[in-house]
Amino acid sequence: MQIGSEDSTTVMSGIVMSGMMSGANNQVNPQPAGTATPDDRPASTPPAFSSADIKFVKEDRIVFAAPGANLRFKAMENGIDLYTFGGKMMNCGGYGQCGTCVVDIVEGAENLSPRTEVEDRKLKKRPASCRLACQTLVNGSVSVVTKPAKSR
Ligand code: FES
Repeated sequence: MQIGSEDSTTVMSGIVMSGMMSGANNQVNPQPAGTATPDDRPASTPPAFSSADIKFVKEDRIVFAAPGANLRFKAMENGIDLYTFGGKMMNCGGYGQCGTCVVDIVEGAENLSPRTEVEDRKLKKRPASCRLACQTLVNGSVSVVTKPAKSR
């Protein structure tokens, strides 16, 4: 154990504390308290967190999700009802087999994962804006209509 050495480095219990004992360099941050802003970060610093917001139009709700979140999962997690009566009684649990988790994407379709072959098969009679929520990953802001009418 070394305390108060000449180079003002103090080692206590294996922790190196530089300048703590000298009194000359005790000021860690020369700025007055409360003056640092996020703009002080270097330009290359990535944002701390990015999110995708999912607007459920009929329910008038906005749900925040991490990019890559499954649309069906986020809806269910937030109490958004995706299923009509038949879908509630019998759905495949998110495996793309029943076609009952249909949603209509009214904004931000470009922020979703590409439509899968399963969706192409299950949604043949639906408009191109329809997706199976269980097969859809959200990467940015979208607006979603749940339980869309079969014909538009
Ligand atoms: S839950 Fe069955 S296809 Fe999505």
